[in-house]
Amino acid sequence: MRLLLLVACVAACDADLQRMVDQPHFTSYEACSICPEGTIMMMPPPGTVGRDGEEASLGAGRSGPDGFVQTIPIELDTAVLARGRNRFDIYCAACHGRLGNGISQVAENMTLRKPPNLIGPPYTTYPPGRVFTAISEGFGLMRSYASELPVRDRWAIVAYLQALQLSQNVVLRELPQPIQQEAQKWLK
Ligand code: HEC
Repeated sequence: MRLLLLVACVAACDADLQRMVDQPHFTSYEACSICPEGTIMMMPPPGTVGRDGEEASLGAGRSGPDGFVQTIPIELDTAVLARGRNRFDIYCAACHGRLGNGISQVAENMTLRKPPNLIGPPYTTYPPGRVFTAISEGFGLMRSYASELPVRDRWAIVAYLQALQLSQNVVLRELPQPIQQEAQKWLK
């Protein structure tokens, strides 16, 4: 008898829960004629601090409807580049190679679409926001890395990728004299 009651209760609770799921509701970006921005969800006001303590404005790689952010919005120094290198080596190098040149064990074995060489064209002309967006949202076959990489880490990777593009394509005689001499030693 007790068991019967329990089963009846579970069945009833189940029905109630279903009513909650089925009730009329809006989805996040659904159009809404009486909302100030025309959609149910609104953009956070400028300067909003997100849950992970980052300014919301840093989290956008896009600007305008089809443009990308043209400059890296965080201050850059060697510590940021070192962080970018560390994160790149952990999260990107497995596919894109430690030099970003697309040479990796994974690339060798990927048949559908190989991870591209990120230090050559067209990637050298990509605005920083486009690379940031690829990390945040994923791109084609590549998944998003937003859950592993907070926004500052993503920008640090974008900066490090620029450093890779520069360092891997640099013309020796354009380097400052002492660095040229140092580089010559390694090139022998
Ligand atoms: C598991 C393999 C893999 C990993 C890890 C990976 N990528 Fe990719 N990436 C790809 C593949 C494959 C593509 C091409 C996707 C396509 O064209 O469908 C790609 C494309 C890209 C592009 C081109 C986007 C565009 O707009 O053309 C960029 C930039 C990029 N990856 C950066 C990164 C960065 C930065 C990381 C680390 C946070 C990373 N990737 C991690 C496989 C990977």
